[in-house]
Amino acid sequence: MRSHPGGEAHTRRMLELAGLPAGASVLDMGAGAGETLALLRALGYVPRGIDLAPRGAGVERGDLLHAPYPDGSFDAVISQCAFFVSGDQRGALREANRVLRPGGRLLLSDVFFEEPERLLRSAGFDLLRAEDETAEWREYYLEAIWRGDAPCCGVPGGKSGYWILIGRKE
Ligand SMILES: C[S@@+](CC[C@H](N)C(=O)[O-])C[C@H]1O[C@@H](n2cnc3c(N)ncnc32)[C@H](O)[C@@H]1O
Repeated sequence: MRSHPGGEAHTRRMLELAGLPAGASVLDMGAGAGETLALLRALGYVPRGIDLAPRGAGVERGDLLHAPYPDGSFDAVISQCAFFVSGDQRGALREANRVLRPGGRLLLSDVFFEEPERLLRSAGFDLLRAEDETAEWREYYLEAIWRGDAPCCGVPGGKSGYWILIGRKE
């Protein structure tokens, strides 16, 4: 089972949209099994990853809502299908902003129950790019429910969408 909608193709698309230079330091918040970390390393980035329940090589145990790094530690933060799951999407965005250097990039794919651009701005990011991946997410989520391992439970009612967003710390 892919652990985020779109799998590796989505990760590559996010990197393409963000245009990060090789050698950039990248924190994966909610890194899970470490697949994205391995890809980042193979592409010449300097990645670190934290997760409440690490399930792969190189993923450190850590809470993305209280990341164990000083302010301005990273050139970029990537997070895929983890901020909403954390139960505090706004808090996660604020924490991503805190650990980024000024001008640092946010590469986020997540489910949203409110307008994504407004949410990013409220956490101190300019929105650079946005792609609506709701159709992919629906397919992924239905498949996950069918298998009995849907990552998000207790979702509120109302209209939702799944987006890739590239932000820049103001
Ligand atoms: C759907 S999985 C996605 C994993 C990974 N980003 C990927 O795409 O393969 C969501 C992940 O978020 C992690 N997570 C949820 N809340 C967290 C928190 N507060 N701090 C760190 N990780 C958290 C879960 O343990 C899980 O590994």
